[in-house]
Amino acid sequence: MDSLTTTASSTKSEAPSAPSRETLTITDNRTGKAYEVPITNGTIRAVDLRQIKTGPEDFGMMSYDPAYTNTASCISRITYIDGDKGVLRYRGYPIEELAEKSNYLETAYLLLQGELPTDAQLKDWAWHISHHTFIHESIKKFLDGFHYDAHPMGMMISTIAALSTFYHDAKDILNEESRRKQTYRLIGKMPTIAAFAYRHTLGMPFVYPDNELSYPGNFLNMLFRTTETRYRPNPTLERALDILFILHADHEQNCSANVIRGVGSSHVDPYSATAAAIAALYGPLHGGANEEVLRMLLEIGSVQRVPDFIKRVKAGEVKLMGFGHRIYKNYDPRARIIKRVAYEVFELMGKNPLLEIALECERIALEDEYFVKRKLYPNVDFYTGLIYQSMGFPMTMFPVLFAIPRISGWIAQWQEMLLDPEQKIARPRQVYLGHGTRDYVPMEKRA
Ligand code: ACO
Repeated sequence: MDSLTTTASSTKSEAPSAPSRETLTITDNRTGKAYEVPITNGTIRAVDLRQIKTGPEDFGMMSYDPAYTNTASCISRITYIDGDKGVLRYRGYPIEELAEKSNYLETAYLLLQGELPTDAQLKDWAWHISHHTFIHESIKKFLDGFHYDAHPMGMMISTIAALSTFYHDAKDILNEESRRKQTYRLIGKMPTIAAFAYRHTLGMPFVYPDNELSYPGNFLNMLFRTTETRYRPNPTLERALDILFILHADHEQNCSANVIRGVGSSHVDPYSATAAAIAALYGPLHGGANEEVLRMLLEIGSVQRVPDFIKRVKAGEVKLMGFGHRIYKNYDPRARIIKRVAYEVFELMGKNPLLEIALECERIALEDEYFVKRKLYPNVDFYTGLIYQSMGFPMTMFPVLFAIPRISGWIAQWQEMLLDPEQKIARPRQVYLGHGTRDYVPMEKRA
């Protein structure tokens, strides 16, 4: 990168006819000095600002960006989003095409390896994943320790973290072979742990993986099999789940991706880093929103009560859960696909009575100035809960259904961070506005 050049004060802006340069000129009005900062890929390097000082004692300029609303923390080649146009692509492939033509395991391969697999590569990939679906019997004892009403996301966080105590080789994060092994294990075991957590809450015996079934088919088997000698997933539900898994596989630098990169930057093992990412996803502003949407629809209760609820949203009393997005200022392309899948599932399972309420919320919100002005559209979580409920999942499982496929995106982001020579341990700066030095006050003198 070109080095920053400091020029003498200049009060005049560039003449319109001057040849364009890939630089930004900043004038510090405190000193009158102007600085020319290189622009690369439409960004300036925050560290270049540090040259801007009022004097030798000055630490140098920083940018202040709470919640990283305008800070690129990495260079990535995995997922592209154009939030204004409602575009989402994995490795260049539009999400609509992947949802129509791909399956989750192929999409996971694409995210992690960068290219679609050949037939042989896909078979090998699926074989390895299906041969890492079993969990150590001690993990079962661990799960048994949870209370019957423990939230399955809490069980997921703890159990995935516990995997690091079983696989010591996972610490070898700079070894490609070790990373590959942990990737198979994580993608393979997430559905098993999720299903076991679900069965534990019901007091039902655990169902072991069936390698003859597809990835989503095996998951349904471990969740719902009862007395059948061989569980046969319903093909419509199996495909619906596969599409939902594709749609949730990655979403560039969202809260949990940022967490796995940040935690992983300390070079901890991938199980511990994944546990942190699942914890981030659990929050109601992130992957926990699908559960909250359903609670909200139940609270609204009827189509007639939607206008009153919207009034409360506009008064700032409550949020319309499943609406709004940091990046999408247009219809979330995933929500569009999910709406279609919802109708396919309802055709089989019967219409979810909450659908009418959801449609009315969407209809009003898409016309109402409050939502239009703020560009608030349905996000991925608005309709997923309705599908999951119709498929027989309890609400607490909804965020888990988000976490299972997101593992491929998390590991892709984690690996990209590890292999990027520019990345270091993540360590932001702060603007300190607290007390200056003061003397310790003994207890008897405190007010
Ligand atoms: N309901 C009502 N008002 C909303 C909503 C909502 N769901 N979302 C945003 N707004 C309003 C805000 O109050 C704010 O209004 P103001 O300008 O008058 O203060 C404005 O829209 C901008 O909102 P921000 O909170 O600044 O937007 P931000 O980008 O920080 O938040 C977020 C995005 C967290 C997703 C937010 O829209 C939200 O809380 N949505 C509901 C929760 C949800 O559905 N989360 C899932 C997101 S998708 C995912 O993570 C998988």
